[in-house]
Parts: sequence; C-alpha cells; structure tokens
Amino acid sequence: MLSSTRRRWSGWWLAAGFVLGLSATAELSDRTQLAIEALQRLKGSEEPNPALQQAARQIALQIPDEPEFVELVREFRLSGMESNLVAFAVRHTESPAAAEAIRETLGREGLVFLGKRLELEGPETAPLLASLAAAGDPRCLPLIKPVLQDAGRPVATRILALKVAASTAAGASNLLEQLRTDSLPPELAGSATTVLKESRWPEIRSAVSATSPTVPRKPAGFPPVPELVAMKGDPVRGALVFRRPDVACIGCHQVRGEGVDFGPKLTEIGAKLGKDALISAILDPSAGISFGFEAWRFSLKDGDDVVGLVSSETGEEVLIKQQGGPQIALRKSNISGREKLPLSIMPAGLQDNLSLQEFVDLIEYLASLRPEAK
Ligand code: HEC
Repeated sequence: MLSSTRRRWSGWWLAAGFVLGLSATAELSDRTQLAIEALQRLKGSEEPNPALQQAARQIALQIPDEPEFVELVREFRLSGMESNLVAFAVRHTESPAAAEAIRETLGREGLVFLGKRLELEGPETAPLLASLAAAGDPRCLPLIKPVLQDAGRPVATRILALKVAASTAAGASNLLEQLRTDSLPPELAGSATTVLKESRWPEIRSAVSATSPTVPRKPAGFPPVPELVAMKGDPVRGALVFRRPDVACIGCHQVRGEGVDFGPKLTEIGAKLGKDALISAILDPSAGISFGFEAWRFSLKDGDDVVGLVSSETGEEVLIKQQGGPQIALRKSNISGREKLPLSIMPAGLQDNLSLQEFVDLIEYLASLRPEAK
C-alpha cells in the first residue's frame, strides 16, 4: 500500500480494512502493483507532473474497486474523479479507503456533489451515510441536516444521519444542544440519545446521561402499561407495522428468516415474553437487555473506540457486529480495554412514529409469534 500521512480512520474501519486491504492487494496483478510502486517512487513532493498524472489516471481507472484507486487519486491529485470516489465509498463501506474517498471528495468542494447524491432516498443512501460516518469529517455536517429534518425519510436513514453528525466533535455537541433545547424532531430524540451515549468523546457521553433520564418519556396519549396490555390489537396490521421502513424493526430483527440478522430473532418471541415485557422491550429497551446482545465499547491502542455487539471471540480476536455494517474483526493485541454499556443498542423512541392503535397492533403481532403447531 502507498503511504499516507493523513490517516484518521476510526478504529473498527481500520481493523476491517486491514484484513480486506491486504487481500485486495494480493488480488492486484503483479504488473499493476509494480506500476503503482514505480509511480510512487517517481512522484516528488511538489505538484505531480502531467505525464505522471496521466499514467496514474490510467492505472487508477483500471482498479476502481481497490483501495489503491483512492490513494492514486489523492496522491496524484487526479481531477474530475469525484463520482468515482463516491462510487467507491458506496460500494466499499467496509474499507478504510471509503472514509478516505469521502474526505478526498469533500476536499474537492464535493459538498454540492454529495448533497445531490443524498437528495433522494435510494439504495445508495445507507452505504453513503455509513461511509460519511466513517469519515468523521465536520465538512459534511451541512449535508446531514436536511436528511435529519425530513420526516418522509425512513427512520433507519435518519438514524444513520444522526450517526454521521455524532461522528464529529462539532456535530456531537450540536446534537447534544438540540436534545437539551428540545429542538430535534421529537421522533429522533430517543435515537439521538442512544447515539450520543455511544459517542467516542467521554464528555459527550456523561453530558447526555445527565441530560436525559434513562426511562424514556411515555409517548403522549399512551395509557399506562397495564391498560396497554388489556387492549386488543390486530396482528395482521401489526405485521405490516413491523415491516414499515419508518419503524425499522425489520432492519434489525428477523422473523422466520425475513429481515436483518442483528438483534435477537423474534420468530418465537410471543412464547418467550408476555405482552407487558414486549411493551417495555420497545418503550424502554435498556431496562432489560437480552443476554448475549449487550453493547460493548472496545478501546483501541490507537485511541479510537468501537461500539457493537460481540458475535464471537477467540484467543486472538473479537468479532463485532454493528447495525447496518459488516462484521469487524478486532485483534486482541490492538485492544486496550473493554466496557459493557448499560444501554441497549436498540434505540429508544421507536414508538414515537406510531399511533396508539398501531402500537397495540404491533404488540399483538409480536405476541402471536410462537412455535408453529406440529
Ligand atoms: C438498531 C437495531 C434495532 C431496531 C431498529 C430494533 N431493535 Fe429490537 N433489539 C435490538 C437489539 C440489539 C436487542 C437486544 C438488546 C435488548 O434486549 O435491548 C433488541 C431486543 C428486542 C426485543 C427483546 C428480545 C428478547 O429476546 O428479549 C424485542 C421484543 C424487540 N427488540 C422488538 C423490536 C421491535 C418491535 C422493533 C421495531 C419497533 C425493534 N425491536 C427495533 C435491536 C433493534
């Protein structure tokens, strides 16, 4: 790999990218690898000369999916590559070079360009936001505001936008201020609290714990739990609520193989939890965190930290699962400490998007999920 002086990857991208980066390098043909190294040696510290730039551009365009693509574009200051850089960041959120591609684009006044890509919701939205969060670059904050404010966007998208904001010191303190002054869209307050409690800055974490009580506000118009339990819902309509993009359950839970395998599978949850427990699992996820799904924070020796679920652990490494992202392997030799968080990764406040009837339907649906009769 070429050397880079401005590496600021957040730790887990580094870990993931280290492995992926090595294998990607192994896949580059020897000739391409030699060409890149030769170019690197020819390049002086001043403005690269046009002939070298031309050579670098040719090689870069042959390897649009390799981390070396981003390095060539950056080191040889290849112009007009913004859309290739963003395409790389969207296709390779798991690579540390994705964050670098975003920073490079931002450095080229790519704000307008990125803004256009985020304007409409589409299959690129989530991976682009994930790469923006990995970049942790305050220059992208103006892009995030419209996404946060847009009530027409799926909650999952807006939560990712919260994560982008919270990935920078300025954005995290701004979010905190908005929480304090109640100026965030109300349906995001619970998720913002969750995201900030996982912040990499200790002062933000303690400030948000002081600001928000751990027991979330009971949504306006919802009766107390015993009355909720007594209400009758429609499980068929509840199944639709569960799958609604703005409610996001299916983005973290599977039912009979459908959905994302992140949180506990809910295929038989009605046999495991009574209605009262199902209700509080949503209203107050941190009150009872299911075994094996606790959130952990790992501090890394390079100063970064990683928050996620531990999916497995061996003598040498820990595999971490994060919402919407790939599994990350942390080498134990890079870990300096770990801490179990008193907080569920499931965001509080998901019910804020639901009417009372929709909430009751959702609970009825969950209660109906039981082992199939033999
Ligand atoms: C960001 C990911 C995420 C989203 C979105 C999410 N959950 Fe969860 N959920 C989790 C995780 C992680 C756990 C395990 C930790 C805990 O118990 O709090 C969990 C736990 C649960 C449990 C308890 C499971 C058990 O075995 O005890 C229930 C019930 C549940 N979620 C229902 C829902 C419903 C309904 C929604 C949609 C309104 C939803 N979840 C949205 C991640 C999520």
